[in-house]
Amino acid sequence: MKEDQIRNALRQLSVREYIGFSRSQGRASLDQELRHRAATLYEQIHWFRQKEPFTSKQLATTLDLAERVLFSEWFFLNHPEPRYPAYTNIHVLNWVLGTTRRATWSTVRARCWMAIQVLLQDLLSFEVCSLAQVEPWQQQSCDLHVVDRRVHLLQKLHAQLTNVQFQLLARIQMDAPPDDWFSYTLDESRTLALLYLTALPQTQEHDEFLFLRTIHISECIFWAVLAGVVAAIESAKCGQLDSAAAHLSDAVTFAKVLVPLFQMFKTMPPEHFAKFRDATGNASAIQSRTYQLMQIFTAGLDERNAENFAATPEIADLVFYGHPRFVDLRTVLCTVEGNTPPGATAFAAQAAALDQALYAWRCLHLGIARHYLPAEATTGTGGTRGTPYLEMIYRRKILPTNYRRTFWPDIRPPVHVHARPVLSPMN
Ligand code: HEM
Repeated sequence: MKEDQIRNALRQLSVREYIGFSRSQGRASLDQELRHRAATLYEQIHWFRQKEPFTSKQLATTLDLAERVLFSEWFFLNHPEPRYPAYTNIHVLNWVLGTTRRATWSTVRARCWMAIQVLLQDLLSFEVCSLAQVEPWQQQSCDLHVVDRRVHLLQKLHAQLTNVQFQLLARIQMDAPPDDWFSYTLDESRTLALLYLTALPQTQEHDEFLFLRTIHISECIFWAVLAGVVAAIESAKCGQLDSAAAHLSDAVTFAKVLVPLFQMFKTMPPEHFAKFRDATGNASAIQSRTYQLMQIFTAGLDERNAENFAATPEIADLVFYGHPRFVDLRTVLCTVEGNTPPGATAFAAQAAALDQALYAWRCLHLGIARHYLPAEATTGTGGTRGTPYLEMIYRRKILPTNYRRTFWPDIRPPVHVHARPVLSPMN
């Protein structure tokens, strides 16, 4: 296939039509002919990118984005049950954040802030338009009293973030998504892709949009915390504890957004969740690499989790982090404990603050699982025992550091699984 042929193939699939159908019907009921066309284009792009690695930068970027978007349709066509990456379009979010290539901590941090702000505004705008009854999409089971309360909490959260560091962006007013793939890649801020190509719910249920956006905002937070922790560990290894403390302090700022975000999320009535839960199939955030990496880089691999990880394709390679020589934040804290090098106190204090913020979220999330899942549910969508799994792991904190790993779990991922860097084109 030649460059002009793949350009032509891209033109054949109207992005606006694809988004319109997905959002008005819900992807679980997507027209099968459209799904076939999207999946075929995915295969063509995949094949072309392997055979023709040298193309213009603009085309290469556009194909990268289109492949990430269409992956979900190819996946849904070939697999009976959705999983987290396809359901949440996480590969598209990662493209927007730029975590698909080597980037500095400050770049990841800046892009995460930008994305969180845009996503919050998008959710707020969706809810305000729903209140005004002018929102065309996701209007089934829309309870205006619930939405009213949610708008109030969203505005509070937005104001809280603005005080921290944000500059309020101009409100994004777009009548319809752009139709051709190139418009999304020509937009340097990547906002168009973030707004239109990440949240494509399975159903028309109003609160499924909230569910997806909460996941996207959480993913941005997990990335920012992870990047901050990695930067802090590297600084500490070089003895620069002041900058390690500063990196952790930034990570804490992000982590503290999780609790108010999930308090806003809890405005969703359990019966609304029940209406779209089945449509999410086997998608579970246990399959979130970013979250699991964040946990591993802060408190190490939990041996009790190794078996679950090895059995979960999206995160099977993370079992390699069980290696005794892997250095996580807790290990670094052990080495500075009892010493008084400059910056050690601030470093330990920031680690404690981060520990507290993440623990607070795990407690809140456990409460959510108990509240939303029927008591008789014996499995989570991620294949664990569900709430009992969360009860087993939520107490694992960074501090105290006197916890010592006793063994390297004798569990290996399947043989074809290879380790890969934190920032990777496969994200
Ligand atoms: C009604 C809403 C929710 C319920 C009932 C729920 C329930 C659960 C359950 C039962 C698990 C255990 C794994 C499994 O699925 O088998 C889990 C894991 C997880 N959930 Fe949720 N969840 C909800 C919303 C969310 C949201 C919006 C996020 C945001 C990203 C999230 C993040 C996570 C993460 C990161 C894990 C993995 C925890 C770990 O492995 O340590 N959850 N959830």
